Amino acid sequence: MTNLVKIKGDTFEPFITEEQIQKRIRELAAHINADYAGKTPIFIGVLNGSFIFLADLIREIQVDCEIDFFKLSSYGDAKISSGQVTLLKDLNCEVAGRDILVVEDIVDSGLSIAFIKNIIEKEKPKSLKFVTLLIKKGVPKIDFPVDYVGFEIPPDFVIGYGLDYAQKVRNLKSIYRLSPQGTGTPESV
Ligand code: IMP
Ligand code: MG
Repeated sequence: MTNLVKIKGDTFEPFITEEQIQKRIRELAAHINADYAGKTPIFIGVLNGSFIFLADLIREIQVDCEIDFFKLSSYGDAKISSGQVTLLKDLNCEVAGRDILVVEDIVDSGLSIAFIKNIIEKEKPKSLKFVTLLIKKGVPKIDFPVDYVGFEIPPDFVIGYGLDYAQKVRNLKSIYRLSPQGTGTPESV
């Protein structure tokens, strides 16, 4: 893993390795495969951030499945959420009566998934669950569970593996965090 990533005058340090990410994805997929045996869920990726995670996750899924995407915008080019969520691309699939799994890269304030939950529930899915690779400890203000979580992390700004900073560095194979930061480590939950 490259040591430090410098972008827009900020320095990011290695945080979660490619190996740790892939191992955790296999564990999450094992749970999902067991929970959805005999069903045909639709995995709904939230663009742009989740595209790499979704691609790796569904290749570990052994039940029949479909995919679709929402595109949301909330961060712009900043490191802090604007607090405004806008729907830039709606779904193409029919959600009514289906088992839906929404796939996020990271849950920070929770505004995005709360917004999505609201949209999907109106369409009367058979079931609705949430998968996220990362969740920031203590930050999300949501009153419902995130069902499958890869890693709980300290509330630091992170990049790589789909996560951007001003639209760049999504292509990094592992996850980096803004440094210097606290000493918290990612925890599988
Ligand atoms: P939320 O609505 O505040 O939960 O944030 C949702 C979206 O903001 C995520 O899906 C990411 O795309 C983006 N985001 C949140 N935290 C970070 C971060 O630390 N780095 C990069 N993008 C982030
Ligand atoms: Mg996202």
